This record gives sequence, C-alpha cells and structure tokens, in this order.
Amino acid sequence: MENGTLISGERLLSDLKVLAGFGALPAGQGIDRPAFSPAYRQALAWLRARMADAGMTVRMDAAGNLIGRLGPEHGSAIVCGSHVDTVPGGGALDGALGVMAGIEIARQIHARSPDLKTAFEIVAFADEEGAFISLLGSRAMTGQLEADEVADSTGRDGETLSAAMRDFGLAPEDIRDASRPSQDIAAFLELHIEQGPVLEAEGLEIGVVDSIVGLLSGTLLFHGQANHAGTTPLALRRDAMRAAAETVTKGFAAVETEFGEDVRLTFGAFKLSPDASNVVPGRAVLTFEIRAGTDVIIDSVLARLMAIAQDCARRARVHVERSIAGRDAAAAMSPDLTARILTAAGRLGYRARRMPSGAGHDAQALASFCPTAMVFVPSIGGISHNPAEDTADQDLVRGATLLCRVVMDLLELG
Ligand code: HGY
Ligand code: MN
Ligand code: MN
Repeated sequence: MENGTLISGERLLSDLKVLAGFGALPAGQGIDRPAFSPAYRQALAWLRARMADAGMTVRMDAAGNLIGRLGPEHGSAIVCGSHVDTVPGGGALDGALGVMAGIEIARQIHARSPDLKTAFEIVAFADEEGAFISLLGSRAMTGQLEADEVADSTGRDGETLSAAMRDFGLAPEDIRDASRPSQDIAAFLELHIEQGPVLEAEGLEIGVVDSIVGLLSGTLLFHGQANHAGTTPLALRRDAMRAAAETVTKGFAAVETEFGEDVRLTFGAFKLSPDASNVVPGRAVLTFEIRAGTDVIIDSVLARLMAIAQDCARRARVHVERSIAGRDAAAAMSPDLTARILTAAGRLGYRARRMPSGAGHDAQALASFCPTAMVFVPSIGGISHNPAEDTADQDLVRGATLLCRVVMDLLELG
C-alpha cells in the first residue's frame, strides 16, 4: 500500500468543514457546541450516520460517548477517539480532528479488510471540555466517575448535569454502566492539534506526546461588604474586588519567581457583585486553574495561592473561601506506542519530535487504563480555544495518515 494514498485527505477536510457548521456562530465568532446542547445533539446525529456509512456498528453508552465499531462484536479493540464538544466560541479542530480522522481510517479499513480479526473503534467522548465535568466521557468509560459526582455537577449557566443528561435521553444515575473492562481496549490513540506554538516554531510536522500535564481548577469566593463608593474611605472598606485583584497579581508573581515556566496559572472567569461602578464590591468570585507536570507541583502551587489569597483577604478585611471544581491527574503515555509512532513517522518521512502536552485530553483518562498514545499536528500561530484556531491542510492529512499507518500496523493489516 502506498503511504501517500493511505487516506483520502480531501474527504477528511470536507468532513471537518461540515462538522464545523454545527453550533457555528456568526462569522469570526467561532463555534459554540458544548456537551449535551442542541448543536451537540445535531453533530452526534451526523457523526452517527458517518460512522454507519463507514460500515461501523454504532452505539451510545451511558455517559453519552458515541462509539463506532468495526470487526468482531466482542473482544478487545484498537480504539481511536477524541471529542466534538467545544469551548464557548471555540475553533473547528480541537477534538474534531481526532474523531473525523478516526472515521476516515475506519472507511479505509472497511474498504480494504472487511473481515477484521481485531476490532477497531472510534469514540467521540462526551464533555471533554468540561461544560459540566472535564473529561466526563473518558473518565466514565475508564471507571473513574461515580454517580454522586454527576449528581452534584452544574454547568456554567446553572443547568444541572443530571437535567442535561436526562434531556439527552441518558440516565445520570447509571453512569457506571459506561465503564468497561480494561482488556476491552488493547490500545488507545488520539490525534489532536498541538494547540501551542512549538511544532510550528521548530518547523516540525508531527509531535508525539510523552506526557500530559495535570490540571486542577476551582473558585475563590471573596466575601466583603458592599458599600457606597463615595463615602467609604479606602482604609475602611471591605472590598472583595481589591482582595481578588491583589490575589491575581501576587499569584502570578509567585508562580513566575518560585515555580518556573512549566507551571501554568490562569484566572479565567471573574464576577463581581453588585457589579455597579458606584458600589464597593461586596463579593468577588474568581476561577483559578493550575497546570503542571506532576500532581505534587500542582498541590504546592495551590497551597501558595491559598496563602496569598488569605493574606490579601485579611488586608482587605474580607473572607475568602476556596472550592475545587475538578482535577485531572498528570499522565504518561505508553513508551512502546510512542516509539512505534515515532518510527512510523520516520518511515513516512515526517519531521517529528517527542513533546509534553500542556492541554488536557481524553488520553489522560485512558492512560491509567490501557496503553495510550497521542499524535499532535502543528497549530498555526499556536492559537487554540479561539475562532482563529487552524492547521495547514497538509499537516491535518499527515497526522491522519500517520494515525492510519499505526492503526493498520496494530491491526496487522500490513
Ligand atoms: O482545557 C484543556 O486543556 C482541553 O482543551 N480540554
Ligand atoms: Mn479544548
Ligand atoms: Mn481537545
């Protein structure tokens, strides 16, 4: 088989364009396709039909993961997957590439080898982006999600996860039914855009991920006292905004000077109340997210951030409370699969390197469960979680071709 003709690049690119239409906002504003939303439902209906056209048997599990399977009904499978939910105003490739490349690979396998000995599956995992729970679908499939966490989860606009799942035709109390025995998955492979600038800057075509950072997210709630902006001297205020703002600047300074450049700290959402220009804010709610290569480092950044928040709160005469929203453990990829992918990339003539992933991925949940690997393709300008997210067509096709080569080798299809 000629490497250059392993997949139809044209069909992959046109599928990606169609998928980008589900949840598309007016031009330039990106895509809004959170898990379990109407746009997500339409995208999954379309995907289901594409999987069936590729000869796959399709089912949805108890977590809302859409699973297409080729080959024997039972026994272990080589699995490719990623997600088709997006962040608010997201791009067209984050997650979508891995799912659509999987479908293109399934078409090729089905056309060439209808009688597979080992099954091939594609999974579009539910809620990777955490509209409700980050990595919901991949955690559920790998037995790392319990019904009580589902019952306690609420989305950004206050909708409960239970209501969203019921509306989607799922029973949240049955989430454990999505968990599978680890021998079901002989290998998990995820193709994804890099979402960062490294491959482009180094003129490389492929990244082979060796580790995925851990992530911890939560909220700091500062309680002070709302008061008159004109009559209350600064020294007598209980200003929740001031405590929050000082926590932000001191938090960044501490991370930069004490922890080094591999630690990421983000304050991504901020709400004040009463939220009026002539009122001292009585309440400030600030989200934080910490990412680092090990969970030990994440814990020490959290401890440092809390010490800073308490000190800033004390100075502003307010109280601070912390809540943790979610935690995804750092994960190492399979050395064997990683080496296999690097070798395959070399044979295809692609310039590749090993690299860590600073973004979270479903592969993170799979890594503790089965041999897992990830392939990255370059992101133009290193931009992602942004409507301008893009990758050159030839890089998208290279990534899918490499994934196809590795899947065919694992399936012993020659
Ligand atoms: O936020 C992340 O790292 C991923 O894109 N879900
Ligand atoms: Mn993302
Ligand atoms: Mn993603």
